[in-house]
Amino acid sequence: MSLGGSLYWYKVPLGRRDARTASKDAANSNLPPPFFSFPQLLANFQAHGLDLKDLVALSGAHTIGFAQCSTFRNRIYNDTNIDPTFASSLQGTCPKSGGDSNLSPLDRVTPSRVDTSYYSSLLSKRGLLHSDQELFKGDGSESDSLVKLYSRNPFAFATDFKASMIKMGNMKPLTGNAGEIRVNCRKVN
Ligand code: HEM
Repeated sequence: MSLGGSLYWYKVPLGRRDARTASKDAANSNLPPPFFSFPQLLANFQAHGLDLKDLVALSGAHTIGFAQCSTFRNRIYNDTNIDPTFASSLQGTCPKSGGDSNLSPLDRVTPSRVDTSYYSSLLSKRGLLHSDQELFKGDGSESDSLVKLYSRNPFAFATDFKASMIKMGNMKPLTGNAGEIRVNCRKVN
């Protein structure tokens, strides 16, 4: 996998205290679903101390990875803010019924490269998730301006993405003796 070069490397602060357990219910009640509107996405981020720029910059993580059909089916059959050719090209992989876990890349242009094509696709109504496309509606909003900026300026995207990732990593850490600082961030000690 190509990671997009040194523009996207950054140093992360170490020593965050994390929980020793995970909760699916807590995750599901905190993570925004893909059918959220822009105001709902923004409210969700704000409830966690994140702002509009964090929302647009962090969504750029969808420059890599995949989504299951069940998360974008409604968009490709019912949304109007979508390029019709793009919508029909996805309908083979994601039929009206069945195939719920069939995968499509979140960034179809460069699925395994960290770059700004995720944002360029939004300009042409080719965002995979409804929540992706909510960031760009062509209505001249602040969110529209950021999508345009990131689509043409990888340096601006990289700078803001790194800052927002560090901000997100500093959200509500456990303190005192609660939890633990992991030796390997992928698993509990
Ligand atoms: C803005 C609100 C967001 C929504 C509504 C959202 C929604 C989703 C959905 C529905 C998927 C596909 C999951 C599946 O089909 O199983 C996904 C995948 C992914 N998301 Fe997000 N996401 C959001 C923000 C973020 C943020 C902030 C990050 C990280 C900074 C992120 C990183 C990823 C990655 C890397 C994948 C691909 C996972 C894989 O391929 O295994 N997303 N997201």
